Amino acid sequence: VPLGLDDPLAYIPPANPPTLGKWQLGRRLFFDTALLSPKGGQSCATCHIPSRAFTDGKREAEESYNTPTLLNVVYNTRQFWDGRVTYLEEVVQANLEDERAADDLSPFRHAWSGVVGRLRKSASYRKQFDEVFGTAPTQDTVGQAIATYLRTILAGNSIHDRALRAQAKAGTRALGNIHYASVLDDDALKELGRAGDAKAAVAADLLRGYTLFRGKASCAACHPTSNGHYSDNGFHNIGAGVEELNRESSRLGRFAVAPLGEKQRYLKGAYKTPSLRSLLRTAPYFHNGEKSDLESAVALHIDRAPLKAPFNFYLDPKLADKDGGRRDFGLTPEDRQALLLFLRALNGEDADPFIKAAR
Ligand code: HEC
Ligand code: HEC
Repeated sequence: VPLGLDDPLAYIPPANPPTLGKWQLGRRLFFDTALLSPKGGQSCATCHIPSRAFTDGKREAEESYNTPTLLNVVYNTRQFWDGRVTYLEEVVQANLEDERAADDLSPFRHAWSGVVGRLRKSASYRKQFDEVFGTAPTQDTVGQAIATYLRTILAGNSIHDRALRAQAKAGTRALGNIHYASVLDDDALKELGRAGDAKAAVAADLLRGYTLFRGKASCAACHPTSNGHYSDNGFHNIGAGVEELNRESSRLGRFAVAPLGEKQRYLKGAYKTPSLRSLLRTAPYFHNGEKSDLESAVALHIDRAPLKAPFNFYLDPKLADKDGGRRDFGLTPEDRQALLLFLRALNGEDADPFIKAAR
């Protein structure tokens, strides 16, 4: 497991213990261009491109969402931007309905019909499923194999993780400039966009960014630093896609799919808090891909915006002012630069050797 991540085993449902056989089968399915449609030509990796941190760099597919990264999905407690399914086993087909004819399936569903039937026609898949599961291909076993592969797509060992390790080694209570400075080699400076700058200055900016992230800028309220995933696995309306929400579009985010006992106004236009690892490779940002660069993605959270059109009546209270507008976090331009630098320091590297080979 890469530095900085929790043990993924604790996040795997007991019903589907990982085995090498399931992983190999899952990986084969993931890259198989004959799997998803009768015509063929498209695999999971068409949209979740390994060299792009398993995204496709596109804003959003029509009638669908911006493709999220699959790095570290094992740590998600719910899947998809609106969290409508719980287990990774369900992301291809959640139930028998998903085996309906393809034109009945809205792209929103992220489900493909006829998958099991196509697999059963292939002698080589029948053999592999038999070896791994002792059955012919079924919805269950397809889900189990793919989920097993997905759970090994990890990214960690970021500059920030390395600084934390330096701190732990030194036995110091708080993270300091010195820990960042000790991990800033030439490659690290380049990754941060600060090649040639003095290490001490970069380290000071990183510490400032980290401190703001957890303090004045309140980022950690939703992107906690404690579990290495930078997501509270919650759903919040932070203002992305407001205009669409106001047009009474069918896209209500979490609200539409939340169980009755959990529905409340702030879930309108609310989407899952994404992890902040690997941001350098996952642009564009947000469920609708509306921001193409990191700076404007961060600005959307913190730019003071008094209540004015387009109104957002469902803005998460953590970001809202008493008057219902967006709160003023009082950040200076230097603060913002430091925050952005800290986000770059979360980037990390992919751990699956297969991903490295695909680069
Ligand atoms: C046409 C492009 C496309 C293809 C093909 C595709 N995906 Fe996705 N994937 C998406 C989009 C868009 C989303 C977000 C959908 C949503 O939130 O409703 C997504 C979401 C996911 C998620 C949820 C991640 C999260 O953080 O919530 C997983 C897991 C996933 N896809 C795995 C797969 C697998 C496995 C396959 C192949 C069987 C696959 N995808 C094929 C576009 C695609
Ligand atoms: C109220 C909870 C909340 C707070 C506070 C918060 N975020 Fe977010 N953040 C989210 C949610 C939810 C999304 C996804 C929103 C969407 O797609 O509609 C998000 C998305 C992002 C993204 C885009 C990631 C991607 O892959 O699309 C970045 C970058 C980000 N946040 C950084 C920050 C920073 C920096 C701060 C502090 C200034 C911060 N966030 C504070 C909840 C929050």
